[in-house]
Amino acid sequence: MNSPVAKIKERLSIEEVVSSYIKLERAGSNLKARCPFHNEKTPSFFVSVDRGTYYCFGCGASGDIFTFVEEFEGLDFKGALRLLADRAGVQLEVYSLEMKEAESEKEKLYRVMEEATKFFENNLVNNQEVLEYLKNRGLNDKSIKDFRIGFALLDWHKLFEHLKSKNFSDKIMERAGLVKDNAMKAWYDRFRGRIMFPISDSSGRVIAFSGRIFVDDGKSAKYLNSPETPIFSKNAVLFGIDKAKDSIRKNNFSILVEGQMDLILSHQAGYKNTVSTSGTALADSTVSKEHVVSNLGLIRRLSGNIVLSFDADKAGANATIRAGKIALSLGMDVKVVEMPEGVDPADLISKNGVEAWKEAIKNSKHIIEFLLKKVLKNCKGDMRKAGREIKVVILPFVNALESSIEKAYFVKKISDLSGIKESALQDDLKNIEQEQKYEKDEIKVAGEALNKLYRKDYIERKLLGIALWQQSVAEPIVDFKKILEKLGEIDKKFENIKEDLIFEAEVFYSNNEDLKKSVNEMFLNLEEENINEELNKKMMELRQTKEEETGKRILKEISELNKKKENIKNGRFNTGAR
Ligand code: UTP
Ligand code: MN
Repeated sequence: MNSPVAKIKERLSIEEVVSSYIKLERAGSNLKARCPFHNEKTPSFFVSVDRGTYYCFGCGASGDIFTFVEEFEGLDFKGALRLLADRAGVQLEVYSLEMKEAESEKEKLYRVMEEATKFFENNLVNNQEVLEYLKNRGLNDKSIKDFRIGFALLDWHKLFEHLKSKNFSDKIMERAGLVKDNAMKAWYDRFRGRIMFPISDSSGRVIAFSGRIFVDDGKSAKYLNSPETPIFSKNAVLFGIDKAKDSIRKNNFSILVEGQMDLILSHQAGYKNTVSTSGTALADSTVSKEHVVSNLGLIRRLSGNIVLSFDADKAGANATIRAGKIALSLGMDVKVVEMPEGVDPADLISKNGVEAWKEAIKNSKHIIEFLLKKVLKNCKGDMRKAGREIKVVILPFVNALESSIEKAYFVKKISDLSGIKESALQDDLKNIEQEQKYEKDEIKVAGEALNKLYRKDYIERKLLGIALWQQSVAEPIVDFKKILEKLGEIDKKFENIKEDLIFEAEVFYSNNEDLKKSVNEMFLNLEEENINEELNKKMMELRQTKEEETGKRILKEISELNKKKENIKNGRFNTGAR
């Protein structure tokens, strides 16, 4: 009974863990809340204190403290384990050493990234010139240390040689994106002559680097980032999230910037609720809407209030428009920081001081007001032009608002400031509502689909882990052959993380008498997810069809799917799985 999972569960109740993320209310012997995993107005997310589990009747999210932390923070099982062990004061090291025979690839990648971070940190300590530069940019010693800033020497092999001396293989270094090979198949360091900013996941493990050129050679990019690796998905990571998440929850708002320096200086100025996109993620049209939705979704789980503060230039304005519209559609309250032309938060803080940044944040305006002011200023009293611009630029944002009360409020505000009649604005807004209905649905569907995708993936991974683990034990409790059969081809999809999955299943279920029941439950959840997917598709078809007969047919199919879903829910209660 001494597994770390059991120990952690003994020390941390589900109530304690979940309520540190979201506000719970009493509901009889249970607790309830608005579900953090999908957008809803009335609570359908229930926590059973006795069972130590949660279940959402709206989206089907379910599990215990570990799955909650995984899904909420976007971590894998080991990340969640690490985070909760820390919190519970449970030691992991000793245990995991005896648990695992072979270290998985992912584990090695985390270890090599950690070693590289240390190496870069050490290089910096001994480099007065670079330290001087960082000081001049306004960073203090504490920030340099806290953010683990380092330096990659201007040399082709220093990191490679160091990692070799620590017994890392070429392959792992390459997989981690730290070295590349040339035409002669010789390895060389990817990052050379760069100030290194480690990027961490929300449990604090280093998963990537962003390297800023130190001496500009006129041809290399200013920032060079790690490539996609098994532990780093570029567009899905927010820089600083590990240090910002508690503060975002506590202060109930986040500040989103675009740049390493901006982020670190904002933290240093006392705004620890600041996160940054890594790379030009939000403005870049090659970054999919799903990813913007997913980044903003994670921030929204922490707080619905967001302040955008991108560069005061064209790229920054585009990012504001793109991210702002999506955030509004997700039901967030969006404000924008106004800054002098051409300035970014880092400039403002280092040149004008902490007070100027405070003032800028305090004076941030709702995105609609922000844009309206810009438009009115641009039109310099040409009211016909202003009218056109308002229709094209501003009203789509009003349309993106979720609440009708808010919409009415802003229509009035625009009318007051521009002198255009409210009724005229209302008419235009109606047209836009029609035109953009599809786009809005698309954002919602993208967000939900992404969540669903994660959840399905998640259940499948769990089941595969259990099957593979049971396959390897002397006296299996469940019929692993049957599970594998039912799962079909998916083991190829998870080939790289098999070791992790087995580890997870073993730690998680080795003392669990209800393994069989859990497996049944997971298959039910999986079926439910499939039905939900099917339902979403049908809804979409229904909206798009114009033929009455087809409409009728689709409605009938929807009703049948709903019946199936109902049966699953009933089954769940009858078997007492919940
Ligand atoms: P900026 O060009 O605004 O850089 O890019 P910055 O933050 O002001 O840089 P400093 O202050 O001169 O050091 C904003 C962000 O876009 C990404 C980086 O994350 C950067 O912080 N970026 C920029 C890249 O990924 N590659 C680049 O070549 C440039
Ligand atoms: Mn910048």
